[in-house]
Amino acid sequence: MRSQRPSVTASLVAALRALYTEMPEPYRLAPDPLAARLVPWPLSLPARALALVAGSPAAVSAVHRGLGLAVLGLNYHVALRTRAIDDALREAVARGTSQLVVLGAGLDSRAMRLPELAGVQVFEVDHPSTQRYKIERLASLARSDGGGATAPALKAGGLARVPVDFERDRLDEALLSAGFRPSEPAFWIWEGVAVYLTREAIEATLRLTAALSAPGSRIALTYGMLPDVDLPAWAELLIKGMFRSLGEPVRTPLAREGMQALLAHAGFRVLSDESTADWAARYWPPQRGIVAIERLAVAER
Ligand SMILES: C[S@@+](CC[C@H](N)C(=O)[O-])C[C@H]1O[C@@H](n2cnc3c(N)ncnc32)[C@H](O)[C@@H]1O
Repeated sequence: MRSQRPSVTASLVAALRALYTEMPEPYRLAPDPLAARLVPWPLSLPARALALVAGSPAAVSAVHRGLGLAVLGLNYHVALRTRAIDDALREAVARGTSQLVVLGAGLDSRAMRLPELAGVQVFEVDHPSTQRYKIERLASLARSDGGGATAPALKAGGLARVPVDFERDRLDEALLSAGFRPSEPAFWIWEGVAVYLTREAIEATLRLTAALSAPGSRIALTYGMLPDVDLPAWAELLIKGMFRSLGEPVRTPLAREGMQALLAHAGFRVLSDESTADWAARYWPPQRGIVAIERLAVAER
């Protein structure tokens, strides 16, 4: 990440969540009405345009499939992964988990959009420059609509925003000072972040996460990053070059065995490990050509 600028990829994935919020069922997997309002306005235009034609199945299908071909499935991948993580989180909360830590939260709005979190203490951890952007954006929205959009953020369980650079700062110290209770089970989300970090930062974060996790705590983290299609070498270079030009190079695209070994080394037991294709099969009617990009591991301490 460029240290003085908010993450661009955080806005891009929020824009994709905004797009799928305007889709009809069954594509509308994790409705996030705040997403279109949090991203820089040009990125909200596709969602706003889709809202105008959402009643037309042909238009919706063209956007879903056409964009899927153009961006190798990244559009539906984000919608699917967010829903898969929401479901894993709901299950943990139903089992009594009372703390949620969102690592590299970006423009994640779970604290505001999931009613199941009403009694859960949420910690949003992120790089200081991305977090600053989000706080300023929420404040500006609150000013413009009298607090309507952001009021649920002030929920009973509480919401703390914790600035941490995973490459430099101590996650444990920052969380403990923000009120995290290591004696109580927590659910950790690390969605679309690890790939941008060095291997050392991934290992250190997993180690500290495990050390702060009471028995029964779970982590849901995504990893990987390249589409599971036969890409010519130039296309792979193009994708990596695009992320580099955004200031967020792909640093550590781990394979399944690599991530499972890191989780085991940190003291987590993997409960499930799924890909885009698995979620599409679960949430959508059968469709051909689903491209898998990342995987999601859910693991328990
Ligand atoms: C693709 S975005 C994902 C955001 C969010 N998890 C989501 O899925 O909407 C990547 C996130 O990783 C965060 N990030 C990248 N490098 C980081 C670092 N060194 N320390 C803390 N956060 C970092 C960015 O600030 C950004 O919020």
